[in-house]
Amino acid sequence: MSIRISNPNIVLSSCLVYIDILIPSPDRLMNSIKRLFASVIASSLLFSSSYSHVKASDREVRVYSGRHYNTDKQIYKKFAEETGIRIRLIEATGISLVERLKREGANSKADVILLVDAARISNAAKSGLLQPYRSSELEKNVPFEYRDPKSRWYALTRRVRVMVANPRKVDINSIKDYADLSNPSLEGLVCVRKRSSPYNQSLVANQIVNRGEAKTKEWLKGMVSNISQPFFPGDIGVIRAVAQGKCGVGIVNHYYVSRMLAGINGSKDKRLAKKVKVLTPNPAHVNVSAGGIAKYAENKE
Ligand SMILES: [Fe+2]
Repeated sequence: MSIRISNPNIVLSSCLVYIDILIPSPDRLMNSIKRLFASVIASSLLFSSSYSHVKASDREVRVYSGRHYNTDKQIYKKFAEETGIRIRLIEATGISLVERLKREGANSKADVILLVDAARISNAAKSGLLQPYRSSELEKNVPFEYRDPKSRWYALTRRVRVMVANPRKVDINSIKDYADLSNPSLEGLVCVRKRSSPYNQSLVANQIVNRGEAKTKEWLKGMVSNISQPFFPGDIGVIRAVAQGKCGVGIVNHYYVSRMLAGINGSKDKRLAKKVKVLTPNPAHVNVSAGGIAKYAENKE
């Protein structure tokens, strides 16, 4: 599943956007997450008499999260400070969280589910792991195209799959689209993350929708034959390798470059990120991370 945006360069223009692009602003992300968490707590108070006399500090929301960013932990901390409600975080890969939820069934203690990748959250909804939740605040903050029509999940952030290139290794003017990575002139110069990454799987799905199966197959065949070395476990490794000239061009999520440029990973990565050029196809593949309320959360709304 993928979403087109008309001019992704606008959203990439600032290196201050070092986490995913927020929908539509940082304050609103905080409000959206708060709304999801608060809905669980509010109904716990309404429906469970045992909750009505406990102190705020005894209350908690269990979050199963497939996101892996420190920025989230800051938000949980701020939420706990503001509300006195503790966040108990269970962090794992999206796929293992989904499996765990299925295994736990009605005994699951999960309240809020956060997953990266639109396909993954909509599959979780289709598997009955989420419950519908309507909130005027969420509906106001999250544009219609970024939420489930049945209100089982709401996108919280967007991420653009961009290309990063080393101008000393490749002619950046000849790389305008993902399809250009299959050009034989790039033999031995392309680096990508391994195929099990949902980031890449969604990109391939996006290309099938946009360009058709035959062209996508051709692109993948050509691109894979240009691969310079074994597949990388993460996007940051791809950016470093491109910056160091071990590769000429790679595919990554935009925010990893921004985070490195902002110095979040240290001064070495900051120097490396300055050496790469971000190339954003038009249309670019944009994915989301999203959240919803677990089917068996205390929430009875
Ligand atoms: Fe990521």
